[in-house]
Amino acid sequence: MRIIKTISGFRTERKKYANQTIGFIPTMGYLHQGHLCLIDQSIKENDITIVSIFVNPAQFGPGEDFNRYPRDLKTDTKHLKQRGVDVLFFPENKTMYRDDFSTYVEVTDLGKVLCGKSRPTHFRGVTTVVLKLFNLVQPSMAYFGQKDAQQAIIIKKMVRDLDLDLHIRVMPIVRDEDGLALSSRNRYLSASDRRSALLLSKVLEMAKKLISDGQKDCSYLIETMRNNLKADSSIVIDYIEIVSLSHLRKLEKINPKNTLVAAAIKVGTTRLIDNFILGEI
Ligand code: PAF
Repeated sequence: MRIIKTISGFRTERKKYANQTIGFIPTMGYLHQGHLCLIDQSIKENDITIVSIFVNPAQFGPGEDFNRYPRDLKTDTKHLKQRGVDVLFFPENKTMYRDDFSTYVEVTDLGKVLCGKSRPTHFRGVTTVVLKLFNLVQPSMAYFGQKDAQQAIIIKKMVRDLDLDLHIRVMPIVRDEDGLALSSRNRYLSASDRRSALLLSKVLEMAKKLISDGQKDCSYLIETMRNNLKADSSIVIDYIEIVSLSHLRKLEKINPKNTLVAAAIKVGTTRLIDNFILGEI
């Protein structure tokens, strides 16, 4: 596996793969099984698989966990080599953002709802770095996890709006045996935090069951989830929302082909998100 840190080095490397299909997985590192599933899928579907690891400062707000975000390049590279990844792009902050950097890309309305309400500059940071990476890597396919459903929806919209010539693949959420959606941030959780965190996937499962039993009323579903989460005093609810997958607009009734049920909570200092969808992103 080639490990490349500079833009010029990457451009030289990229020229070697003209006429080959390129699968790309942008990550912030501290890889878990969720990332590895995206990588395996890319290896299956493309001639060449490229991964980036970059903890992107532009998507962290003031007071968020940029400095303490977990990093472990040694273990990450071991996983990537074992999987058969061809190239790792691992730039420094100053490579991605020169001192006078001042150009941002924003998908306007979709970035203002759900997580965008409490993290107002987050998605602008994500789309800016992802567009820079797409521009450099020029992939045929890029892979994202459904756990960050809003991110995947926003990136798909950016690709469509800007006529980018690549396909976005969104892969299912990968969970631990106890149901907790995998996330690099799970390592912040103490044992008791983790017990509380589990309630998030449980209430989503409960809502899914209610829907499959015929419940369609979104207010009722949200209230039921909210009341169950409130039972644990160490959980602070950021939001529980039921929106359309296509436009992230609030729904009154469940649409079996176009629904995102999403929630974000805080347990201690750790912010956790989870969701399920009816339909396809
Ligand atoms: O999902 C992530 O890890 C990040 O938001 C991404 C897509 C790598 C952009 O920094």
